[in-house]
Amino acid sequence: MSEKESHIESRLEEGKIYPPPKEFKKNANIDDPGIYEYAEKNYEKFWEEFAERLDWYEKWDEVLEWNPPYAKWFLNGKINASYNCVDRHVENGKGDKTAIIWEGEPTDETKEYTFTELKDEVCKFANALKELGVEKGDIVTFYLPMIPELAIGLLACSRIGAPHSVVFGGFSPTALHERLEDSQSKVLVTADGYYRRGKELKMWENALEALENATSVDKVIAVDRLGRDDITLDEERDVYYHEITENQATECEPEKMDSEDMLFLMYTSGTTGKPKGVVHTTGGYLTGTSATHKWVFDIKDDDIYWCTADIGWITGHSYIVYGPLANGTTTIMYEGSPDYPDKDRFWEIVEKYDVTVLYTAPTAIRLFMKWGRKYPDKHDMSTLRLLGSVGEPINPKAWEWYHEVIGGGNCPIVDTWWQTETGMILITPLPGITDLKPGSATKPFPGLKADIYDAEGNSLPPNQGGYLVIKRPWPSMLRTLYEDPERYEDTYWSEYSSDIYFAGDGARVDEDGYFWVVGRIDDVLNVAGHRLSTMEMESALVDHPAVAEAAVVGRPDEVKGHVPVAYVILEGEREGSEELVQELRSHVGKIIGPIGKPAAVRFSSDLPKTRSGKIMRRILKKLEAGEDYGDTSTLRNPNIVEQLKKMVE
Ligand code: PRX
Repeated sequence: MSEKESHIESRLEEGKIYPPPKEFKKNANIDDPGIYEYAEKNYEKFWEEFAERLDWYEKWDEVLEWNPPYAKWFLNGKINASYNCVDRHVENGKGDKTAIIWEGEPTDETKEYTFTELKDEVCKFANALKELGVEKGDIVTFYLPMIPELAIGLLACSRIGAPHSVVFGGFSPTALHERLEDSQSKVLVTADGYYRRGKELKMWENALEALENATSVDKVIAVDRLGRDDITLDEERDVYYHEITENQATECEPEKMDSEDMLFLMYTSGTTGKPKGVVHTTGGYLTGTSATHKWVFDIKDDDIYWCTADIGWITGHSYIVYGPLANGTTTIMYEGSPDYPDKDRFWEIVEKYDVTVLYTAPTAIRLFMKWGRKYPDKHDMSTLRLLGSVGEPINPKAWEWYHEVIGGGNCPIVDTWWQTETGMILITPLPGITDLKPGSATKPFPGLKADIYDAEGNSLPPNQGGYLVIKRPWPSMLRTLYEDPERYEDTYWSEYSSDIYFAGDGARVDEDGYFWVVGRIDDVLNVAGHRLSTMEMESALVDHPAVAEAAVVGRPDEVKGHVPVAYVILEGEREGSEELVQELRSHVGKIIGPIGKPAAVRFSSDLPKTRSGKIMRRILKKLEAGEDYGDTSTLRNPNIVEQLKKMVE
């Protein structure tokens, strides 16, 4: 252990608290702790003041209507998200400011868009969508890598009132097909491919496969990212992005949208095999994301802000596109992998663009730790002044490393807890106010009410583990699940009562009111910060002819947090083999996408089950974690647990 590392270790033991550095506090946007009390007492006014920072065509006549579990925010207000993210900055004299810095994976490819240039591109794409027949209310699906056309596309859609549904580019054709069908999208925007670790990856073929038997898509827009010449477009259906946008006007009147009109759909994994279409609306979402972006990241006009997420996930929607751009912030998009051409790519980007605020995920931080500090140490990262973390609990050791090695010991870290459903950050430090405890997302954002309940709905005293709940609506909360209000009510609002949001996370609050989130308590796995449903993986496995039954659980992993492990009972007399392991892994990869591939497949003659036949995944989880699995006497087949334990060992 190096001297520095042992220093980190010893501080960990002390449970050190990090108050905001003096210099930071002095310049912080928010430095008065009284804001918590103010927001508590003036809850609606507090949010209304944030809404007033946006530009509305017509003001709302009521801030909030709460008919649990259905909320409406800024009722009858009229607004356009694209106008707020782009045009108004041009009109306010910031047209020449850089809006988006895009860095391709090949080191010689970068593009920068000023707000004026972004406005022109957004309008051109919006006009192209109109030409293809897209109307207000039509859903447009995006299946794209991290290229500028994705951010431009979201803004083009919001400009004309067409909700977008972005499907992560790493998902499989099957996953894309399912999401296209569920949303009945008319248009798919995709690309020929993209770069990953220096290789050209094909995307067009995946899109074509997803389109087989698709019932709603009648237009496909292809971005020519790789300049491939082996692609044939269907003359009726397909057009190239550059061709359809080329001659469009750079003006396109934004639609006056109702505050509660759908801005986008985002599919996320739930506890059943079918993904949930989380619906976000316009006024509240933009208010919540711009407010939290400004306060949590302490955003100033000259910040160069980089969130390393993919726009295919909610983090990219809220904190690469809508939040930062609504605030007129320069936001960075990076196409590729952190280890191309070498393991210092992130730090090279930080140095190259003088990044001031960096927002990334614990899984990435743990990977960087593993690679060692020689990579960040090669670069001058003294411009960094604030760091963020999101996606899963950050272990104190990774926190300390991030603080010391990346932040040079003087950047506060905002550990932000939130979800696809919450749309915006809900539990987080305010960096000019909050004393940080490594590993804790600290406190609810002002005005929010969070708590920890036991199974009966009693609020738990400090340091007792229970279920995380939110007890008050917030502007960017999900409004429903697409075409499935029943599932919306069941999943989030029925555990306790219809006004208590059940987050699906286990957590505790300490004696200082700090929240410590442990992780999912349902059948959702958090793999490298990506949410995956074990049910989806199980149904992918039983879809294979050799598999009779399957159970998937998470195994703790040093870098990824958790990785999926599959327990499989084979059909009839079939025997497990290494070949079959690989076949099953790629089968799941094909149905879900590479991120869904189980890290290990364990063949067994049986699985631990209750007398009524329910698989006890809890026991499998304990086995994988090497923990005591408790009493098995109530199982139908207690002996199997010992056998499985040996196999795991
Ligand atoms: O379990 C929590 C974990 O990620 C889940 C939400 O995943 P998703 O909808 O994909 O959104 C991820 C990005 C917002 C939560 O239920 N999670 C997210 N952030 C944190 C976290 N767990 C602990 N600490 C966090 N900061």
